[in-house]
Amino acid sequence: MKKILSVLLALLMVFALVGCGAKEEAGTDTADSNLVGVSMPTKSLQRWIQDGDNMKAQLEAAGYEVDLQYAGDNDIPTQVSQCQNMIANGAKVLVIAAIDGSSLGTVLDEAKQAGVAIIAYDRLIMNSDAVSYYASFDNYKVGTLQGTYIETALDLANAGDKTYNIEFCAGDPGDNNAGYFFNGAYDVLGKYVDNGTLVNVSGQHTFAEVATEGWSTATCQARVENIINSFYADTQLDAVCCSNDSTALGAINAIAANYKGGNTPVITGQDCDKANVPHIIDGTQSMAVFKDTRTLAERTVKMINSIMSGNAPETNATYPNGTYDVPSYLCDPIVCTADNYKEVLLDSGYYTAADIGQ
Ligand code: BGC
Repeated sequence: MKKILSVLLALLMVFALVGCGAKEEAGTDTADSNLVGVSMPTKSLQRWIQDGDNMKAQLEAAGYEVDLQYAGDNDIPTQVSQCQNMIANGAKVLVIAAIDGSSLGTVLDEAKQAGVAIIAYDRLIMNSDAVSYYASFDNYKVGTLQGTYIETALDLANAGDKTYNIEFCAGDPGDNNAGYFFNGAYDVLGKYVDNGTLVNVSGQHTFAEVATEGWSTATCQARVENIINSFYADTQLDAVCCSNDSTALGAINAIAANYKGGNTPVITGQDCDKANVPHIIDGTQSMAVFKDTRTLAERTVKMINSIMSGNAPETNATYPNGTYDVPSYLCDPIVCTADNYKEVLLDSGYYTAADIGQ
């Protein structure tokens, strides 16, 4: 009997201890949580894997707990439910690179009601006052760098009677950045289309006409192949202004498969994806605008540090999201070409030589 009693007593003590522990843990989760949720759109494009890795590493080094999630392959309902889980798990800050800046719906209000700050990462979240801050690169400048590169490469300002043929490939219509990239480039190049120095042979040069659903390489390739077959069988293609590397890859593939001209068209890009760097080196892609994801992660971690300590993060711009001008920090993009890729990508430690097939 004594034995049974002491076993029961021991069991009771164990239960009591476990119970206490559980209570304490729940207390830590909600009140003193330092959990940061990071929601990335897809693993199908290299830059987002790098963004996610950089964010996680830098946040963990700063002492935060991190819940990093990828929304399948750009699946909006998955992104929404992953954000809901992060809120339920007690996240204090959500860092969201939205698949579609206008389609996150009620999860934004849920976050606001729960007192969770939202940082729109790289892509602005539209039509909501629940987004607290925006951390990105200067998206318009990305476009002007692409446009200016083509202007200089073809020496358009001194073209005289010479004309050059150009096509455009822009990004996903649901990505607020895509319009900024395209407008930045077109604000440089449009005047040459207007004065006849640049000829847009396909006649497709509004954002709606040249946008690429999902930034898809295959979709862009199919469109450029079509354009080459229809308009460039006997005509020289001088430039394809592509908003990023996944679309540039589509244009490069289309040109390799279908273009019969003797020249190598000027092709722009953005991101310096591993798959594109060999093209930058061999000249089949002329340039990419480089946005160092380490810098963006650093800036975002700084914002989180300020938010967590109850201070206003440093900002250097505002970006209109349809509801209000979101306090923003815009990092500076730079041009990467065959001439400076070693310094920009290798010497800086961004890639190893093996990463870019060297
Ligand atoms: C990013 C680009 C990227 C594109 C496709 C944009 O929002 O700013 O860097 O190439 O999305 O993922």
